[in-house]
Amino acid sequence: MKMSSEDASNYDQASSTHQAKAKDLSGFFHPKGVAVVGASNNSAKIGYQILNNVIGGGYTGGIYPINPKDEEILGRKAYKRLVDVPGEIDLAVITVPAPYVISVMEDCARKGVKNVAIITSGFGEVGNTKDEDKIKQIADENDIAFLGPNILGLLYGPTDLNATFGPQEVLPGKIAFISQSGALAIAFMGWTIMEKIGLAALCSLGNKADVDERALIEYFNEDDNVDVVLVYMEGLKDGTHFLRTNIKKPVIILKVGRTQRGAKAAASHTGSLSGSDNIFEAAFKQLGVLRAQSFAEAFGWARALSLPLPKGDNALIITNGGGIGVSTTDVCEDYKIGLIDDPEWLQEKFSETMPDFGSYKNPIDITGQGHAKEYGQATSIALKEDRIDTVIVLYCETSVTNPHEIAQGIVQSYKNSGQKKPMVVAMVGGQRTRDALQFLNQNGIPSFSSVEEAISALNVLFMWKKIGRKEKEEATLEAAPSRAIEIIAKAKDEGRDSLLEHEAREVLELCGVPTPRWAFATTLEEALEGAEGMYPLAMKITSKDIIHKTDVGGVELNIKDAEELRSKYTKMMQRVSEASPDAVIDGVNLIQMVSGIECIVGMSQDPQFGSVVMFGLGGVFVEALKDVSFRVVPFGPKEAACLIQDIKTTKIFDGFRGMKADKKTIVQTLCAIQKIAPYVKEVDINPLVTSERGSCAVDARIIL
Ligand code: COA
Repeated sequence: MKMSSEDASNYDQASSTHQAKAKDLSGFFHPKGVAVVGASNNSAKIGYQILNNVIGGGYTGGIYPINPKDEEILGRKAYKRLVDVPGEIDLAVITVPAPYVISVMEDCARKGVKNVAIITSGFGEVGNTKDEDKIKQIADENDIAFLGPNILGLLYGPTDLNATFGPQEVLPGKIAFISQSGALAIAFMGWTIMEKIGLAALCSLGNKADVDERALIEYFNEDDNVDVVLVYMEGLKDGTHFLRTNIKKPVIILKVGRTQRGAKAAASHTGSLSGSDNIFEAAFKQLGVLRAQSFAEAFGWARALSLPLPKGDNALIITNGGGIGVSTTDVCEDYKIGLIDDPEWLQEKFSETMPDFGSYKNPIDITGQGHAKEYGQATSIALKEDRIDTVIVLYCETSVTNPHEIAQGIVQSYKNSGQKKPMVVAMVGGQRTRDALQFLNQNGIPSFSSVEEAISALNVLFMWKKIGRKEKEEATLEAAPSRAIEIIAKAKDEGRDSLLEHEAREVLELCGVPTPRWAFATTLEEALEGAEGMYPLAMKITSKDIIHKTDVGGVELNIKDAEELRSKYTKMMQRVSEASPDAVIDGVNLIQMVSGIECIVGMSQDPQFGSVVMFGLGGVFVEALKDVSFRVVPFGPKEAACLIQDIKTTKIFDGFRGMKADKKTIVQTLCAIQKIAPYVKEVDINPLVTSERGSCAVDARIIL
């Protein structure tokens, strides 16, 4: 919808930066020729290591070392400059010191190179934004996409391209790993090799001056070599840009750096409760990405997400030990993973694979005598039976069993089954078990040394299934009514930084926020007239000069009739003029008293995502429980309903011990306040009182 003021158009622009034409990233991954600028014969240098990896990784396209002095590097003919290379170059990897990078970028433009990885440090990260901006300018003018600066490089398994200065032996797989930190990416390359986890791609982002997470996620959307994208993120330059990412495949984000920067700057409840990590959390939910809490969890999830999704909720546990079976059952309960519960049917199906003393309840206990044959048979049956949707295999190391043979039996039966259902394995034991786990992982079965990791990995399939089922909601910012914009503009013209209470109420009402009956009166006569049919009511003093109304005796609650109003009005005026003799009194606000569950609805500004809306349990609970949820503006009614579901005390809103809420009018409020997002800094509706009769904003503050 079109906005009617300059503020609104500024808001639109601010939330749509980076909207330049998408650049072609294919040369990063499928280059015909690769140049390493700053390649060196000195093995201590990064330029040597990268060239060595490009050659040693098995890349078969043209390889061009660029060095002003040497004729040959690592057995390849070297060129003094990029422009001297006779062949086609799609990817240039820059490893020369910072002062030379701009001139190399200019050479890239001359040579027609479209993809560049800038390894060099010494730009934005140390305050040298001038040179970084210049590089970006050259790139944009010449349609060059670049990674970095300040990166480890990139790797792409399907074309055997390893243009990093990390290890060379990375295993093939279907995970694309995007890392803001280069050093961590190197460390995790080593870790994936050790754990036998394959990678399709690895991209280091560094300063993200050009190519960012969104560009790469959207590229990998269309890449059949990638099943799942894993992002290590420290922060975002532009949250609203990232929120527009088109998510087609599972994206796991490991976001670190939880700061309270946003909270410090905020003046309202909403602001102080936000904190940028809460907003990231909300944005990730809104976007439909999976947030992991640790590297191990992120990689565990990534491995699991290459499995088929479970068709239903019936999981079966196969174990050789009772204890591990019980603890797995507990963890499944925690994650609300359903376990098939039909001992007779299970006995009928599994009796031939088990000794007489085995257990047919779920977990199926094939006992400590379960060898490769029994594991193979039991998993084959579980994988074949339609009533079983998911298989969890557990093993405790014993001296009479051989974990590697058991792993072989499991792999064989999974391969024979056609791999149509998800299966995870947890094996607990020593070195022999560790080797068996690596064998399973190498064969595409997500396998873990603890039950918790295995079930968390399995659970991610249910999480992703839920995200897939969630209907996408196209949300646009609705225009605010012109009268509301006028009220705000007038207050701004008067140099005020907030609206008066009755102004705030009127603005919200105009936007569609339900409010209790209210009236503003400047005299006793007006008050008596306005109050007709509104009792019981509250009366509050209104003055630009009075911030804390209660301190000056400016609040009266539960006024039952006209007589009480008359006496309390006179007394209040007297009290206030004594307590605050210089204050100019604008009048009084009369508000109908309502009862119900008190919630808080707010809107504040986040430095990365712009306007965000908050919902939570209100009144005295706001500070104590901090049980609130957030969404980034704009969002529609479906997402607004998720805001209510997200808080821990959400049960209360479903009718708890006689308490009733009207979710429809809460959703209406959450949607309505967004209309003024372009014009205000913060909104606090505290409380929004809700009951089966509806919801209404009893008290509201709007900060400009
Ligand atoms: N074109 C081609 N080659 C050039 C050149 C140019 N314009 N200017 C210099 N070179 C050559 C040098 O002669 C040298 O080769 P040599 O060993 O044969 O003499 C090579 O490029 C490298 O230059 P040098 O001056 O030796 O720099 P260096 O290797 O010590 O450092 C960087 C270069 C890029 C590695 C360094 O500046 C840097 O930024 N390091 C940090 C990288 C980093 O940590 N990135 C983030 C990862 S997480």
